[in-house]
Amino acid sequence: MATLFTGISELRTVSTLGTITNAALVARDGVIEWVGPADQAPPAEETVDLGGRAVLPGWVDSHTHMVFDGNRADEFEARMAGKSYAAGGIAVTMEATRTASTARLDALVAERVAAGHAGGTTSFETKTGYGLDVTSEAEAAKVAARHVGDVTFLGAHLVPPGADPEAYVDEVTGPMLEAVRDHVQWIDVFCERGAFTEEQSRRVLEAGRSAGLGLRVHGNQLGEGPGVRLAVELGAASVDHVNHLTESDIELLAGSETVATVLPACDLSTREKLAPARTLIDAGVTVAIASNLNPGTSYTSAMNFCVTTAVLQQHLSLDEAIAAATTGGAKALRRHDVGEGKDPQGRPAKGTLVPGAAADLHVLDTASAIDLAYRPGMPLTWQTWVAGKKVYAA
Ligand code: NIG
Repeated sequence: MATLFTGISELRTVSTLGTITNAALVARDGVIEWVGPADQAPPAEETVDLGGRAVLPGWVDSHTHMVFDGNRADEFEARMAGKSYAAGGIAVTMEATRTASTARLDALVAERVAAGHAGGTTSFETKTGYGLDVTSEAEAAKVAARHVGDVTFLGAHLVPPGADPEAYVDEVTGPMLEAVRDHVQWIDVFCERGAFTEEQSRRVLEAGRSAGLGLRVHGNQLGEGPGVRLAVELGAASVDHVNHLTESDIELLAGSETVATVLPACDLSTREKLAPARTLIDAGVTVAIASNLNPGTSYTSAMNFCVTTAVLQQHLSLDEAIAAATTGGAKALRRHDVGEGKDPQGRPAKGTLVPGAAADLHVLDTASAIDLAYRPGMPLTWQTWVAGKKVYAA
């Protein structure tokens, strides 16, 4: 059945079609069939009047860690009192997650997806990485796959306390990878001091690639390092965090298909210097903005907040920030439009509102999306639609 959406003050297509004012959109069977000026809209079986509101593609949150139990408010409070972030806190969440039942993890992830919808997010990636043994990582992968389309194996998040690093990498690249393989599409590694070295990271990524997984890297978060270089060399879809970059890292990214994913909420929560999103865009790098929802460094899925921060503090224009949180995230997940609204695998693309793409809509309770930055922190998400179905209404 076709649904005609009218009453759209501005339709931000995030494509070469630009922003259409007084617009309409037709969705059929979850896919966009038509966009254009309202006075040229074709008829449809059903009409939804959005009452003069702005519509943009749903956020594509390409970096989250939703499968966890417990929280680390104490660690956060100590950080706000001057202690710096270190990867070791991951072990605290590992303990809480290992002891949680599968039913509880399922409920927690479902809640987190619902909260994302309430914030305008329509596509999610999420990672394992708080199990850190074969059984718990496999369970996390299965839980994640029940709720989210893109699941990433992050057994290489931290060497669990007491384990030998090389033996642990053997486990990650052997039995753990084997146990999660059928439930994940991606593999990731925390390539950072205190986590995994360049050589260990390379082993993890190469094993994932041999198993048919796409590659992602946590890199250059806490200091300059090999993360970006490795990600580009191995053709990773994204390298995430990217707070500390050399000129050579930026050049490598600019000459590659690897997306640089910035995580503004995490930078604020860790008091890390904000990732140089402005410099990256000026250099021609594709930038994605993601929430990095996790209990250690970014206990939020609020993409509106991340976009606002990117504009106000990282000096992106609103258009650039919206693009990074929609088409940028889609590119980081290889779900972007490569023509006629289809992604590289011929599925409806994400992060753009063009015919052929997924009818994933974020309706703001305002006539203009500039309010995302002009009225920071206001509850602007009014409705969220995934594949033409309403999943959230304020
Ligand atoms: O992306 N940096 C590594 N992993 C997470 C944080 C994990 C944690 O501290 O629990 C991140 O920020």
